[in-house]
Amino acid sequence: MAATTVFAIESSCDETAAAILQGRGGLLSSVIASQADIHGRFGGVVPEVASRNHLMNLQPVVQQALNIADIPLAKIDVIAATRGPGLASSLLVGLSFAKALAAALGRPFYGINHLEGHLLSPFFSTPQGAHRCIQILVSGGHTALVELHSPRSFRVLGTTRDDAAGEAFDKVARLLGLGYPGGPAIQQLASTGDPARFELPRSMLTSDNYDFSFSGLKTAVRYLLPKIKTSDLPDLCAAFQEAVCDVLVCKAMRAVRELRHDTLAASGGVSINARLRQKLAEATKTAGIRLLLADPALCTDNAAMIAAVALERHLASEPEDPALDADPSLGLPNPAP
Ligand code: KG4
Ligand code: ZN
Repeated sequence: MAATTVFAIESSCDETAAAILQGRGGLLSSVIASQADIHGRFGGVVPEVASRNHLMNLQPVVQQALNIADIPLAKIDVIAATRGPGLASSLLVGLSFAKALAAALGRPFYGINHLEGHLLSPFFSTPQGAHRCIQILVSGGHTALVELHSPRSFRVLGTTRDDAAGEAFDKVARLLGLGYPGGPAIQQLASTGDPARFELPRSMLTSDNYDFSFSGLKTAVRYLLPKIKTSDLPDLCAAFQEAVCDVLVCKAMRAVRELRHDTLAASGGVSINARLRQKLAEATKTAGIRLLLADPALCTDNAAMIAAVALERHLASEPEDPALDADPSLGLPNPAP
């Protein structure tokens, strides 16, 4: 039987994306129109501006995804779009487009949880799909430590109590006048800095749970600011980046040990960070376990990961949801009691 072909749209924040996936790992196209430059001028994402740009970008992005995949719409079996979490007005653009397309073509439609998309992003080159592992999901809006059992079964072990890891990068970058998004700018400055020059807190490093907290770290940077010169910025960025990475790697490795796993995976925009990747590689090598990192193009928001979840739902014969509404505050299911 021919592999199922999924067409998916992602528009939860400031990236307009479309992708076509033919069976597990069979990514035919993944097109992303980023609005980062536009929102950079405002120091963060402006919802009204984001939804207007989604409206302008969506049709050309969809057309490009079809052109690159070299596939007619008639050959699409399943249609999907992100239903949440995200900005309501941004979600509605992609969701409405995809639902209308599914109705017009008479195909099943799935409204996808964006966070579940991130969770599947490290498995595009794994033929059997997602498998048992511990995963840190570190994005601009969320930070979670998750135990994955299979593509459609996982358990959230811990989340952030305040800022997400990416949010901390973005807020500290704004404090330092580095623009938006903050992660790449901080990484760049940190590459020439000394992480040991400033001592910054590692909140909840030894707490008896798998939760995180990054707002104290941001406050510590704010208190240091009046005492430093511009030439100190690389050292400050390196110290900040090191503190975030230390906590993420330490907690993830603790989950690996305590729950007896042999694979650690990482996903989300922050998992592009070169220092985080290096520290994860060192820690997993020392522990003799496998590290699975998403391709950098699939770490930040994209529609390929949304297609991947829709494919798994379709393969598992889960009911479609043609009338589904957007849910801006959708989360991952709560930790088991
Ligand atoms: O996954 P993503 O595209 O969006 C959400 O779902 O939130 O992640 C965006 C986040 C931003 O906070 C951005 O600053 C961060 O990922 N990021 C990075 C790097 N590249 C992007 N953080 C640290 N280092 C990077 N190189
Ligand atoms: Zn995301």
